[in-house]
Parts: sequence; C-alpha cells; structure tokens
Amino acid sequence: MGRVENMVAIVTGGASGIGRATAEMLAREGATLVITDIQEGLGEEVARGIEAGGGKAVFKVHDVTDEENWRQVVAETIGSSGGLDILVNNAGIGILVPVVDMSLEDWRRQRAINLDGVFLGVKYAIPAMAASGGGSIVNISSVAGLRGSPGLTGYNATKGGVRLFTKGVAKECAGAGLNIRVNSVHPGIIATPIWTKAVQGGEEKVSDLLPVNEGANAVDIDAIAQATVPMGVVGTAEEIAYGILFLASNESSHMTGSELVIDGGITA
Ligand SMILES: NC(=O)c1ccc[n+]([C@@H]2O[C@H](COP(=O)([O-])OP(=O)(O)OC[C@H]3O[C@@H](n4cnc5c(N)ncnc54)[C@H](O)[C@@H]3O)[C@@H](O)[C@H]2O)c1
Repeated sequence: MGRVENMVAIVTGGASGIGRATAEMLAREGATLVITDIQEGLGEEVARGIEAGGGKAVFKVHDVTDEENWRQVVAETIGSSGGLDILVNNAGIGILVPVVDMSLEDWRRQRAINLDGVFLGVKYAIPAMAASGGGSIVNISSVAGLRGSPGLTGYNATKGGVRLFTKGVAKECAGAGLNIRVNSVHPGIIATPIWTKAVQGGEEKVSDLLPVNEGANAVDIDAIAQATVPMGVVGTAEEIAYGILFLASNESSHMTGSELVIDGGITA
C-alpha cells in the first residue's frame, strides 16, 4: 500500500527539478498524476517514464498564469480521474538581479508565475477537493520566503507572499470545515535547473552579491552552499519531494497552515 494510494494529484512545473521528483515519488506511492508545465517535451517524458515504471500519469501543457487554463486542467482532471486529492503548486522562476536594475516587467512576470499561479491553483482546486471530500494543497515557497536574499528581492516578495497566503487559506478552509489542508514547503539551496536560468541582466551585476560560474551566466550553487548552508552541501530534488509527499499524504492529517523548512540548516 503506497503512502498516497489511489489519490489524484496535480503537480505544476512537473517537467523539471523538484516538480519532476515529486511527481515521480507520488506516483511510486500510488497516486494518479496529472503533471503540468509549459515545457511540453520534458513533461511528456516524465509522464511516459512514470507509466513505463507501472505508475499512472498524464501530462498537460499548462501555463499557471492563465486562469482559463487552470479551469481546464482541474475540470479535465475531475473528468478523467473522478476527483482531486492533492495539488502541488510548484511551478516557479527566480530572477536574480539587483533591485534597482529590475524592470517592472520582470517583477510582474515573476509575481505572475510564483504568486498569481499559486492563487489560481488554490482558487480552482478548493471547490474540486471539497466535492471529493477534502484534500491537501502544498505550496512551494522557499527559504527566500522566510528571510531576505540579496539579488532575489522580487523572488523574496513572491515567496513571502506564498507563505502567508498559505496560512490565510489554511484557516479559511479549516473554518469552513472543508477537510482541505494547506501547507508550504521552504527548500534551501537545491540542485535543479532553476539556478542556470536565474541570472538576468549579466553576471557582472550579481557577482558581488552571490558567487557565479564565470562565463556560464549561472550561479555557483556549490560555492553558495559552502558559504551559507551549515550542512555544507546543496540539497537534492528528492529531499524536497519527501517533505511534499508527507504533507500530501494523510500522515500529516493534523497539519495545516504550517511551513516545512528543508534547508540543510540555513535558517536555523
Ligand atoms: N532549486 C532551489 O534551490 C529552490 C529553492 C527554493 C524554492 N524553490 C522553488 O521550487 C519550485 C521548483 O523549482 P525547481 O528548482 O525545481 O526549478 P526548475 O526550473 O527545475 O522547475 C520549475 C518548473 O516550472 C516550470 N514553469 C515555469 N514557468 C511556468 C509557467 N508559467 N507555467 C507552468 N510551469 C512553469 C518550468 O518550465 C520548470 O519545469 C519553484 O517554485 C522554486 O521557486 C527552488
């Protein structure tokens, strides 16, 4: 018996990194997966890999900033699987740039994905979960949602927003007696492709804020880990997925509005 046996789960941003590891882990533990992302090729690959291993998964192209797209994804999930038990709001981007160099357009783009996307997921998942007797929503924030990070101020704003939005929604659901739990997860420095996409506006702009891999226009996460993570190493996507699995499953049945920090000691 898997830890999320026969549950139906949507994982956004499931084509890569933490979302991919989470989708694979939930599927191994018995859930039926709806994996969504804007990266179609990679997303299809993840779903096919799960099916090849005997799990159940479909992939859907889904931009989390698009309200109509959310309506469709949730309706199709209910149509094909009969309910919705788990939503992992994981899709996200990080824009690494000093605040004075950040364009309003980038500020809004990051907010649209990291915060508006979580709002829309919650808005459409709650009625669907309520109709099937309850569920668990896991919103992926960050240690950057708990304390400031130079170069990632816009990201701080979105992830801090996710943290407190989660708590408000958790209380609203509990107060309404919906049996829907809502929690946030706060990863530290995790080895995923997000870091290779983060540097915007040139590495010379951020090299005095964070160590960068010269010429690669990417952050040197091993150097950051050595400098800022008490355990001295970067985390893996699987180490985050284990926390998400716990919050998604009924093992965490008394938890709502809480924040699970998985950061090698950064915020200790
Ligand atoms: N890697 C870390 O160190 C770290 C630390 C803290 C928090 N996080 C958070 O974890 C989550 C997953 O990030 P990751 O590290 O696995 O990065 P990743 O880049 O590997 O995965 C993010 C996924 O989100 C998808 N995505 C981006 N925009 C989207 C949109 N508009 N609609 C749908 N999908 C979209 C991307 O295509 C990608 O597949 C993010 O919310 C991120 O902020 C990551």
